[in-house]
Amino acid sequence: MSEHIRLSESDGWLEIALCRPAKKNALTAAMYHAMTGALLTATARDDIACVLFTGDGDAFCAGNDLSDFVQGPDGAAPAMAFIEALAAFDKPLVAAVQGMAVGIGTTMLLHCDLVYAAPDARFAMPFVKLGLVPEAGSSLLAPALLGRAKAAAMLLLGETIGAEEAERAGLVGALVPAENLHDHARAKAATLASLPRAALLATRRLLRPSASALEGRIAEEAALFAEALQSPEAQAAFAAFAARSEPRLTKEKLT
Ligand code: COA
Repeated sequence: MSEHIRLSESDGWLEIALCRPAKKNALTAAMYHAMTGALLTATARDDIACVLFTGDGDAFCAGNDLSDFVQGPDGAAPAMAFIEALAAFDKPLVAAVQGMAVGIGTTMLLHCDLVYAAPDARFAMPFVKLGLVPEAGSSLLAPALLGRAKAAAMLLLGETIGAEEAERAGLVGALVPAENLHDHARAKAATLASLPRAALLATRRLLRPSASALEGRIAEEAALFAEALQSPEAQAAFAAFAARSEPRLTKEKLT
């Protein structure tokens, strides 16, 4: 378990809260392990209908903890296990996003069925800027969801989109004032849990893309990602982040 993941259960649904706000909820190996375990438990338990992801503080998730990537592919293994569990998860996924959602903070949303966002939400997948390649099936899911042009702007150029644009693009289902965001998402999770379960799960299965295409793409991305992690460009980007010597994805730049 991780002190930075808080699991709470309500009637028929599970909330996975990222609680490392001082680091913008950047995901460590321990956090991935805890989330993977929670998803596997939720899969096995008939009394859980759906899972809600939330983040504490002013950012949803700043992506993978970049210090773990310095170790190369071993440092990314817990993320890959989480991605596999997320892609295979067979119940509805809900997310509530405020502030920054970077890297896997955005790509995990591509697996979510219902995404609610506060007006200050910002979404970015700056893999190429970091010398990396897309993960979590985002090279397949982003063009399918956002359209090829927006996916290319985000995945090739690393452009950030704001909450309204994300809503127009179909990544976000509804914008909700920040003060109501988590309650709103919890109410939706509760509604899902109250619905006829077999019909809910069958419909969710039908809404998902072909599992084999997604699994194949995730594996293809993972092989390239492992290679890219060891590249001089990527290692230089991680070192620059740690040293604060490179301009970060500052909020100013994101607007
Ligand atoms: N990995 C490790 N630490 C991270 C992190 C990450 N992905 N994102 C943020 N942090 C840490 C910062 O190092 C900082 O720690 P410190 O206070 O000990 O110095 C703390 O979280 C707050 O981040 P800061 O950059 O000061 O906040 P901000 O509001 O100015 O900017 C972001 C927030 C998310 C825009 C910025 O932190 C950022 O660009 N993070 C990296 C995002 C990224 O590239 N993720 C990987 C994608 S694959």
